[in-house]
Amino acid sequence: MTRCADYHQDYRQACEDPETFWQTQADELAWHTRPTRALTIDEQGLGQWFADGRLNTAWLALDAHVAAGRGTQDAIIYDSPVIGVKRRISYAELTDEVSHCAGMLRTLGVSKGDRVIIYMPMVPEAVVGMLACARLGAVHCVVFGGFAAHELAVRIDDAQARVILTASCGIEVDRLIHYKPLVDAAIAKASQTIEHCVVLQRPQCEATLQEGRDIDWKAAQAAASPADAVPVLATDPLYVLYTSGTTGKPKGVVRDHGGHAVAMRYSMKAVYDANPGDVFWAASDVGWVVGHSYIVYGPLLAGCTSVLYEGKPVRTPDAGAFWRVCAEYGVKMLFSAPTAFRAIRKEDPDAKLSRQYDLSKLERLYLAGERLDPPTWQWLVEHFRLPVIDHWWQTETGWAIAANPAGYGLQSPKQGSATWPMPGFQVSVLDDEGKAVPSGVQGNIALRLPLPPGCLQGIWGNPARFREGYLRHFPGYYQSGDAGMIDSDGYLFIMGRTDDIINVAGHRLSTGEMEEVLGAHAAVAECAVIGVADELKGELPLGLVVLKNGVQIEEKQLSSELISLVRNEIGALACFQGALVVKRLPKTRSGKILRRVMRQIANGEPYSVPSTIDDPECLPELAERLETRRFAAAG
Ligand code: COA
Ligand code: AMP
Repeated sequence: MTRCADYHQDYRQACEDPETFWQTQADELAWHTRPTRALTIDEQGLGQWFADGRLNTAWLALDAHVAAGRGTQDAIIYDSPVIGVKRRISYAELTDEVSHCAGMLRTLGVSKGDRVIIYMPMVPEAVVGMLACARLGAVHCVVFGGFAAHELAVRIDDAQARVILTASCGIEVDRLIHYKPLVDAAIAKASQTIEHCVVLQRPQCEATLQEGRDIDWKAAQAAASPADAVPVLATDPLYVLYTSGTTGKPKGVVRDHGGHAVAMRYSMKAVYDANPGDVFWAASDVGWVVGHSYIVYGPLLAGCTSVLYEGKPVRTPDAGAFWRVCAEYGVKMLFSAPTAFRAIRKEDPDAKLSRQYDLSKLERLYLAGERLDPPTWQWLVEHFRLPVIDHWWQTETGWAIAANPAGYGLQSPKQGSATWPMPGFQVSVLDDEGKAVPSGVQGNIALRLPLPPGCLQGIWGNPARFREGYLRHFPGYYQSGDAGMIDSDGYLFIMGRTDDIINVAGHRLSTGEMEEVLGAHAAVAECAVIGVADELKGELPLGLVVLKNGVQIEEKQLSSELISLVRNEIGALACFQGALVVKRLPKTRSGKILRRVMRQIANGEPYSVPSTIDDPECLPELAERLETRRFAAAG
């Protein structure tokens, strides 16, 4: 892989001459048909990348490496402490599995452009399924295994999928999560008809298959003949990944083949300084964007070995699990969410367990998904004496908007900063009217259009939502939804969301969606959900509800019913904390609920009451309830 040259030179060129900069990056890939142009801008100023190029992402991630002599190198190392299995899969073996899986999908009628839902635990077949879709030019929609049946049904309908790939079960530490009944419930709930449900039967639990619809994955794959990679246009969709928006309906972020492959390959070098043969571990889940980009596509496109870990940072079996995996496989870069390291630190504050392992191959630690809190940063620096790199990105961007760019040479870090914008991302900080604010002043972070390759192409089936949600507020810019500032040295600091999205253990969740669930309870007249600070998970959702007139229900009873509702409708991963019953919710005169003020009160932060508040009298009651809860939670 070509070395990165000078950061400033590349940054400038990517802004001023994106055509040349990205065409040079595209030349690193073996295209089926090389694109003649990098960037085409449409009437709305949106960029399409490599529009006349043809390629196949799965072929580039697999067959190309086999052809280049890397067939025997490990592509994936699967390590599952929850079932006690370790398995190395070479590039040649993975290519073979993927082409047979693609053959199986083809016999089920899946072809280019069809959507396939993948609802899987962290097993190699999840990766095989994703790459098999890509091989056919079909579009995969991976749904995180912690989501409930309702969320799965919503995604089946939105994607209009006809085929699902799933497994009989997942394992959460020592508890079986039976996937198949959840999938059956989702299929029953969805309006869209699922023609085939392909089930990986795991030895830990055998799922009941419905004749005619359900298919045993292993048997069908073994019987299928291999399918060749189908070259597709660079602008054809590779996947749709649903993420939380501010309403109850999740947004399907659409990623293309060409821009994505170029961005993955470039970011592996520029952000991670990864080279072919390096062992790369993103300790995340294939259900999230980190898993798509840096468990599957990035490392494989770069010819690295990717670790696929089916376990937790703690309890599988202990807080030394990450260090054991790093030592056992010679991991060079470890990427996870701050919450994972907070969990490790809580159990092993002096990092004693890490000393049992040889971590000499580990060079850098990468963190993203939520704000990297200073105590976690300091703990990692103190105990591991490695560069600890905070980088900022979103499902929508697919790769880091800002990072300490290891491929260009690391800069001195500043605590609380994700360092510099990566070439291609023109980051501005704007006030609410869209005027740039001076350095050091906080504002809305916006990215000047066009976005670089790898970023979302739109929202699946809903171009208006893309324009409304991201492009309308600041014309000529993409609105990130995060607030922050850039200091006088150009370092970017991310302060948090400006909308109703919260971050629970590195998982992005919508409070609006939870409010819809609470609002459906017969006793609830009005409600608000806020994210309250939590030492381990960053934020946890808490409800505030106003009862309907005349309703008599104990707060404890209502709270536990609401917890069950959120678990059943959204999933356990939401970690909904329950609800406090209040007489009124604070609102502005125009009826907007003052969630920010409530959050500040709940977190014991200073707050100011807006002059537009309708009924200031409701605040003392609310403050008392929230403060009592905070002290109770702090023990
Ligand atoms: N399938 C089914 N259920 C799942 C699940 C999955 N894939 N993932 C989580 N859940 C469930 C858990 O079992 C738990 O259920 P419970 O309330 O019945 O016990 C609930 O969702 C919350 O899970 P989790 O947030 O994982 O909490 P935890 O206490 O088990 O673990 C951490 C805490 C910090 C160790 C864990 O959240 C973690 O590893 N976070 C890192 C997240 C991450 O990597 N994010 C990706 C961004 S880079
Ligand atoms: P997701 O789309 O799930 O990756 O979540 C994206 C959101 O997570 C961003 O909009 C931020 O609010 C938050 N986030 C991600 N990385 C960071 C980071 N390094 N620092 C602060 N917040 C982050």
